[in-house]
This record gives sequence, C-alpha cells and structure tokens, in this order.
Amino acid sequence: MSQLQSTEMSYTVFFAVALCGAAWAASVPHASNSQSYDTIVIGLGSAGTTAASTLARAGRRVLALEAQDRVGGRVHTVPFGDGVVELGAEWIHGTNPNRVYDAAVQNNVTVLPQYFELAFYRSDGEEPKSALMKELFNYLSQFFHASPLVPLPMGSYLTDRIHHYLEQKYPSLLSDRDFIDEFQNFLDLYISDYEAAYSWNDMSSNCQFRNVEGHPYMSWHRYGYRTFFEILLNKYNNGPGLPTLDIKLSTEVTRVAWSRAADGNVTVTTADGATYTADNVIVTVSLGVLKETHETLFSPQLNGEKRTAIEKISIGVKHKIVLLFPHVWWPEGQEFDFIWNREDIKNLADDEKWISNISQITTPMGASNTVTFWISGRPAILVESLSDDQVEQKCLQLLRKFMGRNVTIPEPTAIVRSSWHSNPFTRGSYTYDNVLAPQYPTAREDLGAPLTDSSGRPRVLFAGEATSPNHFGTVHGASETGYREALKLLPKSEKE
Ligand SMILES: *[C@@H]1O[C@H](CO)[C@@H](O)[C@H](O)[C@H]1NC(C)=O
Ligand SMILES: *[C@@H]1O[C@H](CO)[C@@H](O)[C@H](O)[C@H]1NC(C)=O
Ligand SMILES: *[C@@H]1O[C@H](CO)[C@@H](O)[C@H](O)[C@H]1NC(C)=O
Ligand SMILES: *[C@@H]1O[C@H](CO)[C@@H](O)[C@H](O)[C@H]1NC(C)=O
Repeated sequence: MSQLQSTEMSYTVFFAVALCGAAWAASVPHASNSQSYDTIVIGLGSAGTTAASTLARAGRRVLALEAQDRVGGRVHTVPFGDGVVELGAEWIHGTNPNRVYDAAVQNNVTVLPQYFELAFYRSDGEEPKSALMKELFNYLSQFFHASPLVPLPMGSYLTDRIHHYLEQKYPSLLSDRDFIDEFQNFLDLYISDYEAAYSWNDMSSNCQFRNVEGHPYMSWHRYGYRTFFEILLNKYNNGPGLPTLDIKLSTEVTRVAWSRAADGNVTVTTADGATYTADNVIVTVSLGVLKETHETLFSPQLNGEKRTAIEKISIGVKHKIVLLFPHVWWPEGQEFDFIWNREDIKNLADDEKWISNISQITTPMGASNTVTFWISGRPAILVESLSDDQVEQKCLQLLRKFMGRNVTIPEPTAIVRSSWHSNPFTRGSYTYDNVLAPQYPTAREDLGAPLTDSSGRPRVLFAGEATSPNHFGTVHGASETGYREALKLLPKSEKE
C-alpha cells in the first residue's frame, strides 16, 4: 500500500516537473534546505487554499493541514436534488476587482447573476404594504454603509432614518405603531441575516466593509462554489494538481510552536501526535476557532494586540435550511419576505418561536425545486441543535402560514442544513463589525499582522476573512488575505 502510494507520487512529481519546469526551477534553492516544508498552511478554506496554491505555484514546498475531511472551509457545496446546494457561501459579491470572479472567468466557468426583488407576505394573510416597504428599503439602503459622525448601533441609526423619512413624506404613518414595529422587526432580521449578526443593534453604523463593483450576487449555480477550490488547486477539468503541495485532510492542528530566534523553525503538532516543521506557518482558521483555542494553540501565547482583536471582533452565525419539493409551487421570483404580525408571534408555542426569526426564503440556482430558509444569531444556534424532522415540519408550517393561502404546498422530499456554529472547526459563519468596531479600528489589521523573528522575517502569518479590513465576511475577502500573506513569503521576482 505505502509502496504503491510512493510510486504514484513520484510518478506525479515526475510529470509535474516536466510540465511545470519554470515553476519547479524556482523552488530548487529551497529543495536543498533540509527542512521538510517551506510553509505549513493551517486550514483549507478560501484564504488557506489561496495561500497554499500561490506558494506551491511558485515552487514552494507546502504542507496544508485541514481539520475537516474536505477542502473549502466555510464554502461547502453538497449534492442535493438534481444538482447541488451551498451550505456555506453562495455568491460571488461583485466582479471588479474580485479574485473569485476572475478565477471563474479565466477558466471559462460561466457564473450567473441572480436577481433578487423583495416580495412580501404577511403571517395574518393581510395585504402587505409592499410599495411603501420597498420605498423605505430603497431609501435606507444608502445608509447601510454610511458612517455618521457619532457611531450608533445599526438598528438605532436606521430607526432614526425611518422616522425622519416618514415625518417628511408620510407624517400620518408615524402613528401606525403596528406598521413601524413590524417593518423594523423585519429589517432587524433581514439585516442581521445578511451580516450573520446577532441583532442589527449589535452591528455598527460605521462598518468598514466596502462593496466590490459589479453584480452583487453572482452564482456558481450547477458548478457549485467548490469549483473555485478545484481551480485554485489546479484540479479543475482533471488538472494534475500542484506537485509541491501536500494536503492532509482530517488533520486537526493542536499546537503551533515557534521562537524569535532567526535560525528557528516553526513546529506544528496535530491531534494524532505527529509534528511537522517548516520555515513558517500561515494560520487561516476561523475567528470562532481562534476565540476557542488560541490560549493553547500558540506557543508562546499571542501578544496583547492579537488577543484584543480576537476578543473584540464578532463572528456571527447564519443557518441555512434547504428543502427539496416534488415540484415548484411558489410564484415567480427568487426571494420571498415574511412580515410577522405581533399577535401571530405571541400565539406560537415556545418550542416553535424560532420560526418567527425567519424573515426570508430564497431559491438556490444549483438545484431545481429547492428553497433556502435563512436564520441567524441565537435562534440559528438553537435550530442547529434540532432534528431534521422537527425543522422540516416547522418550516413547512411557516410556508403554509405565509404562502399557502392560494396554493397547496406539498410535503418536502428532502432536507439539508448547515452547522457552522456546532462545527468545532468553524464555530460561526463569518465576522461583522460590531458596535465595538469604531473603538478598535485596527483590530482586523492587528489580527492579520505576522509574528516576526528577531531578524524581522515573518514566521507565523495570519489570513482569513476576519483579517480583511474591508472585505471581511466574503470568499473574495478571504482569498485576498491568503494571497496577501503568500506574497510576504515570496521575493518580489517570484510574485505572479
Ligand atoms: C530546523 O529544522 C531542520 C530540519 O528539520 C533542522 O535540521 C534544524 O536543526 C532545525 N533548526 C532548529 C533551530 O531547530
Ligand atoms: C477558454 O476559452 C477560450 C476560447 O474558447 C480558450 O482560448 C481558452 O484556452 C479557454 N481557457 C481555459 C482555461 O480553458
Ligand atoms: C426572534 O424573534 C422574536 C420575535 O420576533 C424577537 O423578539 C427576538 O428578538 C428575535 N431574536 C433574535 C435573536 O433576533
Ligand atoms: C391570494 O390570491 C389573492 C387573489 O389573487 C391575492 O390578492 C393574494 O395576494 C394571494 N395571497 C397569497 C398569500 O398569495
């Protein structure tokens, strides 16, 4: 068995050397080094896979250790129905500039824009004030990334804006407490879902996130987001992979030890007791994992700035529930939005209150006859712990309450769900700028700063969406940080 493997391996290396002569030549100086690897990359999500593949393409010997049994991190494409669905990241947000979009285009993968339009339904079956809510929503969208002089919790800030707008344009509506209350409740859920935040009042009005130009929702549809990783790893279309990159899946890292000595190595220990040494290491685990493990993961322990960043930045939870139906029963559209009447919420039993925290469903592009329910924050953590049967029945009840008055909604035939919070290798979905962010404006840079040895060379580097100052929470943001850190390890002449 081991002999067969090693034969296969040298065979692969042989062909790869023949095929990638130039890249291989670049690595020769390092090959004379007696260390086993130049760089160890911890975690193969978007950041880690970008870092590992960038270095390997430049001929560096890279070991990538991934705790889960798959590549992708918080991108997770699974087969479902007649296609695939995304349990993690679903869209490419913006196209110019966007590393993820570029990867698709350069490999002739056609990604498709998905168009969303608010379509309101009410729990009590009354006619929703759709035109007014869309008008308010449009007006408010200019304030999602505004930065008022005095930072406020996002909810308070937008609530002020709503009152201001109504005062100017529809003063009589100011006394319609039910409308204002229901709309604000909807916005809280909708915006929290978008940011994976615990509440819109946990988000800051002075968020440092910046959109990328171009269509904000490009879908990998039936290719699946995993195609991005196949492209990075040179495996797309039966590509040969990257000869100087070793990948070990299901390999959890338990310790990263390094020293400030200029001749020192970085030693990485895994849960099975193995140790690996390299010149340097790039840590790309999620902020949720850092929060939980950093005290024991690093030797010596992280410095004060990093610890503060890990503590103060928030990672939220977003839970996706995808149901498969025997046929499409919903009207045309890709998004359906739910306005809850307060009485209807009160009438829910305690064990089903969480369905009132679902404000939206969308239709994925990767598989026919499927619907995704979005839920975030504490209710999402609760739902992760429930059984598929319970969740499926409550979601069906929700659909019938809001959308089933004129149409018979059939029983779903399958369900699949995410588990980003209960998963010990993610412990959350993605980070957002919470109300503390304006007080800690450099937290993300601090988190991403490399730890250097006494000669100033970077030894322990950090990448991942949480370290992206303006593109956090996205796959392209994560990929940018992986590229950023890889470049720190390549001399200028070798950079792509
Ligand atoms: C670094 O690792 C190499 C190869 O494992 C070893 O020969 C060398 O002694 C190590 N250096 C230190 C300072 O431990
Ligand atoms: C993409 O398509 C163009 C035009 O057909 C072709 O020249 C190019 O080689 C293709 N690229 C890849 C990576 O397949
Ligand atoms: C969940 O929904 C209930 C009812 O609308 C609301 O009171 C509560 O704040 C929501 N919880 C979260 C965490 O959004
Ligand atoms: C049901 O049909 C009526 C009449 O066509 C329409 O006005 C109403 O919006 C529909 N309700 C739902 C929940 O689809």
